[in-house]
Amino acid sequence: MKIILLVIVLELHWPVLRALFTVEMAKTLYLAEFGNTVKMECRFPTGGSLDSINVYWHRMLSNGSEYEVYTLLNGNEDLQSQHPEYKGRAHMKPDLLRMGRAELEISNVKISDSGSYRCLIKMGGADYKQATLSVKAPYKIKTHVKELPKNADHKDAELSCESEGYPPVQVLWRDGNDQDLSKKASSKHSVTADQLFHISSLLIVNASSNNTYHCILWNETMEETYNASLRIPADIKTVDPPIADGVSSTAYWTTVAILLVTIVMVGLIILMWKKKIKCSLLRAMSQRHPEEENEVNIHINTNEDDGSLQQIENLRELLKAKYTASSISDWGIGEWHSGFCEQFLPQRLVNSDGQTQPLTTLIPQPKGALLLEGDPLSGKSRLCRALAAMWADSTGEDTFSARECELVVLLQCEGSIGNIYEEMIRQLLPEKRFSEADLEAILMDHFNTLLILDGYSKGNTTLDESLRSLIREGYSIRILVTSLPEGCEHIVDCFGSVLKLQSGVAADIFL
Ligand SMILES: *[C@@H]1O[C@H](CO)[C@@H](O)[C@H](O)[C@H]1NC(C)=O
Ligand SMILES: *[C@@H]1O[C@H](CO)[C@@H](O)[C@H](O)[C@H]1NC(C)=O
Ligand SMILES: *[C@@H]1O[C@H](CO)[C@@H](O)[C@H](O)[C@H]1NC(C)=O
Ligand SMILES: *[C@@H]1O[C@H](CO)[C@@H](O)[C@H](O)[C@H]1NC(C)=O
Ligand SMILES: *[C@@H]1O[C@H](CO)[C@@H](O)[C@H](O)[C@H]1NC(C)=O
Repeated sequence: MKIILLVIVLELHWPVLRALFTVEMAKTLYLAEFGNTVKMECRFPTGGSLDSINVYWHRMLSNGSEYEVYTLLNGNEDLQSQHPEYKGRAHMKPDLLRMGRAELEISNVKISDSGSYRCLIKMGGADYKQATLSVKAPYKIKTHVKELPKNADHKDAELSCESEGYPPVQVLWRDGNDQDLSKKASSKHSVTADQLFHISSLLIVNASSNNTYHCILWNETMEETYNASLRIPADIKTVDPPIADGVSSTAYWTTVAILLVTIVMVGLIILMWKKKIKCSLLRAMSQRHPEEENEVNIHINTNEDDGSLQQIENLRELLKAKYTASSISDWGIGEWHSGFCEQFLPQRLVNSDGQTQPLTTLIPQPKGALLLEGDPLSGKSRLCRALAAMWADSTGEDTFSARECELVVLLQCEGSIGNIYEEMIRQLLPEKRFSEADLEAILMDHFNTLLILDGYSKGNTTLDESLRSLIREGYSIRILVTSLPEGCEHIVDCFGSVLKLQSGVAADIFL
């Protein structure tokens, strides 16, 4: 209230007071990027006693309300009535006051910080000015190109494009001839808890034609468009697609070139260094304690962040740590993989006609569900764990092409008590960094997740409903379920295909 009165008094006595004491904003418009720190500066005449200076920074809402951002009373910080939105994020450097600069620093800038800010200074005289803060989050486009299985006489490829940023954008698709393909794409968007705009889009194209496609993120109010190129056939089956930045300028390509050179050099150095200490590294790995999983450095938004990229990144790291830790203690590295995965498995995996199938068929297409049946001790669980371990280990063999998937979720159904999301938390994420709703959002919406349910016939029927709805409504999830022969009769209609793992004498060696 006091501030409002002061502002009114200033308005009334403007001409008189202005002559005595004038405040200026260094800029009237401040631009900031989401997550960064922004400094807004207001200047005032020096000469008065800093022991009696009062500085008030307020955020002016469009409905007339004000939030107190930062206050200095008689030269001392006073945050008693600071608005909780700015708690711990707003600071001022007292040193600068001597130079007549009241510089407000807001860290970890949010989209919702955008708006008007008023700086009011009282030191003998008093005056105020306003400035506008505009917060943006640049889009980084993640692309992926994948060949779909041969369909009648032609092959299709699936192009995907996913990103997060602000302001909201529209996705446009164009081919090399600048033909608009946007209508053929399926796009989804959502708003994350950080108010970022999350967009994902899929486009199916002819895999046999030689063409370049552009995924373009566009907003009429933005100066730049974000543009990523996907080439057919060159980009098909890229495992780890590079992240393409928005602007397609020479600066961008120079940066890419410099980055590449740096990566190659760092890679060489690491390679040389690794060779030297390979033995000690292997020793150290075999002595790893399980608690080390917890050391993975994780930052999670605990609020209902709808499948944000950061959250998926965190989940991926947690899962990788989990599978890596269990595979090392459980299996040992190296020979086992080649014996089981390269000699044993390829002869045992058959379709319903008894024909052997390549191991890569174990990973279904997006929106595909595969049932793998096998007798007890045929190696189903080993196979599932090998698949997860190979996905987690980004350097070794990738017999199943598991690394095409961005996330691999492996659940044991035996002893299960809850639905898929409850079991994910119970079995894989006991640290409770994700809620069931987070996990459901990720599995339902995210590109490129493989869910493996091992031993479904030994599981509890509490899993059925969540599995059915994932198969039915999941945007692009791939599902692999293992079971005893005829163990899944009640849901067998859900699966697009059924494969069998034949048991045999040699199985014992590996199981
Ligand atoms: C103005 O908006 C803010 C945030 O939306 C709200 O907390 C406040 O109560 C509103 N004030 C008025 C006067 O409507
Ligand atoms: C562009 O951004 C503005 C906000 O800056 C938003 O209101 C508008 O809906 C966006 N346009 C599109 C096409 O997403
Ligand atoms: C796909 O492209 C190839 C090569 O350009 C062409 O021969 C074929 O007819 C196309 N298939 C379809 C279904 O458009
Ligand atoms: C695709 O087209 C480009 C340019 O037209 C050409 O340079 C390239 O050799 C073609 N690639 C294939 C596989 O046909
Ligand atoms: C996207 O980039 C390609 C080449 O990098 C260019 O040909 C195309 O015009 C760009 N599209 C837009 C809308 O910027």
